[in-house]
Amino acid sequence: MTLQLGDTAPDFTAETTEGTIRFHEWLGDKWGVLFSHPKNFTPVCTTELGYTAKLKPEFEKRNVKVIGISVDPLDAHDKWAADILETQGHALNFPLIADPDRKVATLYGMIHPNASDTTTVRSVFVIGPDKKVKLTLTYPASTGRNFDEILRVIDSLQLTAKHQVATPVNWKQGEDVIIVPAVSDDEAKVKFPQGWKALKPYLRLVQQPRT
Ligand code: BEZ
Repeated sequence: MTLQLGDTAPDFTAETTEGTIRFHEWLGDKWGVLFSHPKNFTPVCTTELGYTAKLKPEFEKRNVKVIGISVDPLDAHDKWAADILETQGHALNFPLIADPDRKVATLYGMIHPNASDTTTVRSVFVIGPDKKVKLTLTYPASTGRNFDEILRVIDSLQLTAKHQVATPVNWKQGEDVIIVPAVSDDEAKVKFPQGWKALKPYLRLVQQPRT
């Protein structure tokens, strides 16, 4: 069954490059990003993992723990880590799950048999501190993901979890946001006393609230 937004992210126990973890316990009260890569020792995956390692301070700033997964065994992860450092200039600094029996990949619907019945697609799950799935992305093996976009989405998810706002097209941290339609103008006067710009009664732009 496909995991949908708002579902509880399935818990599991798995071997990783940083030891055995129980997923929910490992997440603790933080946000999580769980992302799959189809296969070790492949070019696109190597670039994705190096770049994600580079972004670790950005994830930490946002209180997010990152974890990767592939269906390769643990010893292959350890060998590949050296290549990631050598070619990308960043050492792996987050755990990689070894899932050779595809237990976790199956739990999260990461195997799409019509794409490949042996390897995962490129899935991303953003999980909130309540362990609910907040975002899913699915890319084919041939297309590397944009991890800056994943950070941008996390900024939006964290902001909109706290305030009754939504973020417009291509929004970035610091730009104006939208007052959600469920907030009446009278309520908005209390929540946003600095005022807003109404392009239409349903399209009200307001300065990004401080988090
Ligand atoms: C890659 O990471 O480069 C890759 C992995 C599986 C299929 C195609 C490309």
